Amino acid sequence: MTTDLRSDRLAQAVVDSFAETSNARLKEILESLTRHLHHFICEVNLSFEEWQTGIDFLTRTGHKCDDVRQEFILLSDVLGVSMLVETLNDMHTPEATESTVLGPFHMVASPHRELGDNISPESAGQTCVVHGRIRDEHGQPVAGAVIDVWQANADGFYDVQQPGTQQQGNGRGLFTAYDNGHFYFRSVVPSYYPIPTDGPVGQLLSATGRHEYRPAHIHFIVTAPGFKELTTHIFVNGSRYLESDAVFAVKESLVRDFVDRPAGSENPCGVTDSFVEAEIDFILHNAGMQEEH
Ligand code: BEZ
Ligand code: FE
Repeated sequence: MTTDLRSDRLAQAVVDSFAETSNARLKEILESLTRHLHHFICEVNLSFEEWQTGIDFLTRTGHKCDDVRQEFILLSDVLGVSMLVETLNDMHTPEATESTVLGPFHMVASPHRELGDNISPESAGQTCVVHGRIRDEHGQPVAGAVIDVWQANADGFYDVQQPGTQQQGNGRGLFTAYDNGHFYFRSVVPSYYPIPTDGPVGQLLSATGRHEYRPAHIHFIVTAPGFKELTTHIFVNGSRYLESDAVFAVKESLVRDFVDRPAGSENPCGVTDSFVEAEIDFILHNAGMQEEH
């Protein structure tokens, strides 16, 4: 085989080089990747200097990664790729709660807490009472559901971003719902916040005039026997950046009202002062017979 190939035949030669790949899915992915990559480079007529800049960008992205920082996922997030993969893999019926990206701040285990506990005991801010029910697609309560929740504080920081200021576990909780699906806990209203910008992804955002903010939200992973795990957020209605999330993760169905309540209002957490109430129902997708052994 000659190496003197015109660009239109080059991609095909690379595709052909994968002919003996025994893993059919790997072969499919590599062939398609090759075709799209070659097409993209031809389309923008990439110069040698631009190719070098791209290699340098990816190298620096790798160097920024460590046990608690994943700059490649952040790059995937700001390019909308994480959200695309999430959406493609989100097999659910129209009734089930939609999923959204996991994000990089679920890197420590949430502390076990009792229903009604405060997940943000170290955080100043507006008290928030979150409560709701976990049901199946037919509206029936789901028993044995576990809710993993994590959020930023009212200044827009997760515990892991402020090791000297917040104890690990502040803003996090692992709850078991009642068998009738009810759950409730107390927290503070989270703020919108910037994604990390001290790496190559931050440079990409500033070079393109994009802001780095995510609208205020609370993260959830809801699991229950016989149901598909749900990874999602609940967004605070009215938050800044709801229309321009830096990682494109807002789905309209996930926006909820956080409603002001005066002192003395009834609530399951025993809060006596004024607070903000968020009612959140989750509808889980049945995992199906083939996944139940
Ligand atoms: C987050 O919501 O925690 C998040 C998601 C994607 C990128 C950065 C942060
Ligand atoms: Fe977040």
